[in-house]
Amino acid sequence: EKGTYPYYMLKEIDEQPAVLRHIIQEYQGEDNQLEVDEALLAAMMEADRIHIVACGTSYHAGWIGKHYLETLAKIPTEVHIASEFSYNQPLLTGKPFFIFISQSGETADSRQVLVKVKELGYPALTITNVQGSTLSREADHTLLLYAGPEIAVASSKAYTAQMTVMAILADVLGRQKGHDSQWDLAHELGLVARAMDTVIDEKAQLEELAQAYFTDTRNAFYIGRGLDYYVAMEAALKLKEISYIQTEGFAAGELKHGTIALIEEGTPVLALVTQASNASHTRGNVEEVRSRGANTCVIAMEGLEQEGDQFILPHVHEELAPLVAVVPTQLLAYYATLQRGYDVDKPRNLAKSVTVE
Ligand code: F6R
Repeated sequence: EKGTYPYYMLKEIDEQPAVLRHIIQEYQGEDNQLEVDEALLAAMMEADRIHIVACGTSYHAGWIGKHYLETLAKIPTEVHIASEFSYNQPLLTGKPFFIFISQSGETADSRQVLVKVKELGYPALTITNVQGSTLSREADHTLLLYAGPEIAVASSKAYTAQMTVMAILADVLGRQKGHDSQWDLAHELGLVARAMDTVIDEKAQLEELAQAYFTDTRNAFYIGRGLDYYVAMEAALKLKEISYIQTEGFAAGELKHGTIALIEEGTPVLALVTQASNASHTRGNVEEVRSRGANTCVIAMEGLEQEGDQFILPHVHEELAPLVAVVPTQLLAYYATLQRGYDVDKPRNLAKSVTVE
């Protein structure tokens, strides 16, 4: 039940720190070490390539998952939109391993690929919020998100849970393969939960930012590089699907290769800046659009802040920054939608679980 909350989405955004703490507990074994099922690990140890298959927000979490699998477990990983995979099947290597990410576990586009993968005889893991769901039953392995029921059509806590479970899986797999990850992931995730709490306490500021940037705009952009680009894609989907503002999530450096033509006086461009290695380059892109009239704002991690309009994220391990950086963008989407007078939980034309192809 949503209790005193006006909308499920707000409740689900607020639940994220608790969900994170719950996931850590569920995946901690003896000696508080993060663990996943032995049979799953054994199957993944064999893989020469991982294919992540998903739709929408789960697809966006897949990109972060790819990053973790490649950096921590050092397994080449591809990310596919489920509805494209079937008709545009990639060339497969000898030992592929498939990961389906689906909050509901019922998405028809993803299921269609899973059925095919099973026909071909390849191993598959489903990462889902719903125990006993179709994709969970039909895959060889399941990892649960432990996010609790997600009612709002726009996914929030499932996305952060998906990224968290992907990080845990990649970390455990990396250790199993003998790669020293140099961090205590459970500890770092605990710090992420605290940082999320801090962002959630800044609702008043985010409500004002939504007012300043989104009240009567037709379009908007989120930009970033690397992990920030992946979050920009999700931030854009969230804003467009509930506020109906046409929003693109863009690779910051790619804007100047065509899309910058859309920037006019007052176009909102929000940049994510959480990675020291590319912060100055993204800042450069912000300047490019600001000088062409864009209404710019930077969502920057502590330590990377500068003068100008910005929202500051508490510092966390850079690799986990997406978990914190997405939270203000969820709240911005929420407030923009309220201010524009739409139903946050039930956007037009959308259903929570898409069971048609
Ligand atoms: C967006 C959203 C959708 C879903 C997508 C996949 O907020 O919720 O994009 O992420 O339909 O759904 P699942 O994860 O249930 O397969």
